[in-house]
Amino acid sequence: MNAQVENWVAIGPLSEIPRQGSRRVLWGKTKIAVFRMSDDRVYALEDKCPHKNGPLSEGIVHDGCVTCPLHNWVISLETGSAQGADEGRTRTFPVRIEDETVLIAL
Ligand code: FES
Repeated sequence: MNAQVENWVAIGPLSEIPRQGSRRVLWGKTKIAVFRMSDDRVYALEDKCPHKNGPLSEGIVHDGCVTCPLHNWVISLETGSAQGADEGRTRTFPVRIEDETVLIAL
């Protein structure tokens, strides 16, 4: 059993996130990049590349991943893990959609 208590927070309408793009959300001091795929799946990752903290929200979304704009590491949107030979992982947050509103578990 998972003892962690999740706090679902509404961050706004799905329509405010561009398809194949992202929106940045601030939660306290934590920057969260919320990505929307072309099929409307949504993923939330800390907006911090595991390499040198590059802003993943400014990266290119493709094939379930985002390419960091600084040095082109490719990060899985589902797991937050660096792909290929690179090693590292960005924190991910559970996401759900209710009545066209995006909620993130924080
Ligand atoms: S900071 Fe993201 S690839 Fe270097």
